[in-house]
Amino acid sequence: MTPTGALSVPSQRHEGKATFAVGDAFYRPQSAIARDLAVLAAAVYRQRHGRLRVLDAMTGCGVRPLRYGLEAEAEFVWANEGNPDLSAVLGQNLATLPAHIYRITHQDANQVFFTCYQQRDFYDLVDIDNFGGPSPYTANGLWATRLGGLLYLTSTDGRATSGHDPERSLRTYGAWARSHPAAHEQGLRLLIGHAAQIAAARGLGIEPVFALSTGQVHRVMVRLVPKPTLTDATYGFIAYCHHCGQFQTVDWRHLGRVSCRHGLGEPSDAPVLSGPLWLGPLHDEAMLTAMQILAISWNWCSQAKLLGMMAQEIDLPPYYYPLGEIGRRGQMDIPNRDQLITALQGQGYRAAVPSMDWQGVKTDATFGDCVAIAKVI
Ligand SMILES: C[S@@+](CC[C@H](N)C(=O)[O-])C[C@H]1O[C@@H](n2cnc3c(N)ncnc32)[C@H](O)[C@@H]1O
Ligand SMILES: [Zn+2]
Repeated sequence: MTPTGALSVPSQRHEGKATFAVGDAFYRPQSAIARDLAVLAAAVYRQRHGRLRVLDAMTGCGVRPLRYGLEAEAEFVWANEGNPDLSAVLGQNLATLPAHIYRITHQDANQVFFTCYQQRDFYDLVDIDNFGGPSPYTANGLWATRLGGLLYLTSTDGRATSGHDPERSLRTYGAWARSHPAAHEQGLRLLIGHAAQIAAARGLGIEPVFALSTGQVHRVMVRLVPKPTLTDATYGFIAYCHHCGQFQTVDWRHLGRVSCRHGLGEPSDAPVLSGPLWLGPLHDEAMLTAMQILAISWNWCSQAKLLGMMAQEIDLPPYYYPLGEIGRRGQMDIPNRDQLITALQGQGYRAAVPSMDWQGVKTDATFGDCVAIAKVI
């Protein structure tokens, strides 16, 4: 009761078309972009397949099932939340949806995935918004995903993915992650590689739909496909030379012969190796285009802009150069990003803003050439 005797109403939040209370649930307003992109992908999936059944395995206050229902027009959403203390707030929030289109449970996510598999109850979209690394859930989440369906994975384990705890990265991703300037992209590639390897071990494959890094949090939406996508070309290593700042990709056959000539033909130092991780495309161009068209029609300008940036980086190398690193190594002021991109393109290179670090450039120019061009703009 309030001092005046009126019943207190928990404060309501708004996101997309959803109005909800948070109560004691974990909810980060800053993660709205991750939910926006997932809603767009789900809506495109529904347009294409004429169906959308969603399993949100770690729902918190239920903002995602609410949005999948209201915005992506899911015909069914299963909202699972391991903490039964959130039952009241979840029930109250989802009550805006028609009763027959949702289900609420309070089980361990892995229990839910096993039940789905046992009952042959497969979902078009399985959303797993875990804390920390994804590895306890990825393999089991695949059991609940229908072939051709989508799996949305999360990693909040920035220390491991950025190379500051390689032993933890080894335990989580089966990969030795080293520290280098393209850390945010490395997090996405570790997460996709992990999913591709787990799917391949089962004779299946995954294709990235989109990959989103907001610094410490990495998210990837992947499509489950019937054939493995893990190959020598899509799953390998990234080498980084601490001497000259150059990256290179390394496949399994050349692991013993990695060297860097520092762009000068000098005798080589051994660069550090990170991986294995995903070296294939981070996003599906056709899906990004369809999501962008939808975002524009919904007047979601910042989301449409981000999707456009993602589309620009699809064919570029699996790393980027932060502007600060160009300035530091070139012993000059931090270059203007857009002027540098224009200058690189003027020299015949491909170049774009990395979606995962807007203060950087993604280009097929070597680091040395990029610094040289930055010096004369
Ligand atoms: C990051 S929060 C979810 C936030 C929510 N998806 C959102 O977008 O606002 C993770 C939630 O998963 C729940 N959780 C953690 N481990 C779980 C498990 N093994 N099974 C089911 N739920 C779990 C936590 O109680 C927490 O509410
Ligand atoms: Zn070098």
